[in-house]
Amino acid sequence: MTTTETPYLLGNEPDELRRLEEQAAALAPATRAILALAGIEPGMRVLDLGTGAGDVAFELSRVVGPSGSVVGIDQSSKALRWAASRCEAQGLRNVSFVHDDLHEMRLTGQVDAVVGRLVLLYTPDPAAVLRKFAGYVRPGGVVVSMEYEMSVAGLLPATPLSERVTHWIMAAFARSGLDPSLGARLGAVFADAGLSGATVLGLQAYRPPGDPTGSRMAAGIIRTLLPVLTRTGLATPEEVGIDTLGQRFFEDHVNSGATFRPPTLVGAWARVAGR
Ligand SMILES: C[S@@+](CC[C@H](N)C(=O)[O-])C[C@H]1O[C@@H](n2cnc3c(N)ncnc32)[C@H](O)[C@@H]1O
Repeated sequence: MTTTETPYLLGNEPDELRRLEEQAAALAPATRAILALAGIEPGMRVLDLGTGAGDVAFELSRVVGPSGSVVGIDQSSKALRWAASRCEAQGLRNVSFVHDDLHEMRLTGQVDAVVGRLVLLYTPDPAAVLRKFAGYVRPGGVVVSMEYEMSVAGLLPATPLSERVTHWIMAAFARSGLDPSLGARLGAVFADAGLSGATVLGLQAYRPPGDPTGSRMAAGIIRTLLPVLTRTGLATPEEVGIDTLGQRFFEDHVNSGATFRPPTLVGAWARVAGR
């Protein structure tokens, strides 16, 4: 374990960890589909990069079963304590956690697969991280990444509020030097990491009027990003009105009869060639 905690845009406070759990529930169907298509199977030893509240590790645990194992890695000790207690509550015995920074971490031995969801986005050089962890995968094993394409998110047709929320999210990431459309670029990132010919597939959910997912996701991420929005001059707290944002978004969703389209979850995967 390294001792420094990397500054990370969204932080790891309890509200944010609860937001990750709620987001993970919404992403579970797409995540399961991507893991299955990528070839994650019973018996595999898998690393989960940037495990956060642990949800991807828990999905992996059920897929690899008792003969496999999952190691969730995160730079946040708070997130890992949270994930470990959820893991225990679920009685999952094939999951362990390691506190480390992906840039610093060194492994001995090989694994069958490396998986990371919504984590490369927060690294300054995603291809370098992928290349490094692909080096720990046995020949024939698999590297899987899932990242968002955020530009498509919002109500369909858009309302002024949903357009504003999408703009705030995109701009907050961009002004923090992070690419909110990383998902759409994963094929190129894999190629830069020496993983050519990756399969790249975006999975898109659609939520009808009355489904609370959209308003919860919008209010949750804006609450987390509020310090960035105000610090970078994108919006004042009065313009955001965080205490009523979820309700206003929900009313827009219902009253306009729109469909809520969350960010696309893009999955990319490639086999590691023989060395
Ligand atoms: C948006 S959360 C995603 C959590 C989880 N993968 C999921 O999809 O629900 C990103 C996580 O990556 C972790 N993270 C970000 N940069 C990291 C780094 N350099 N090393 C290790 N963990 C990192 C953060 O602490 C956070 O828990």
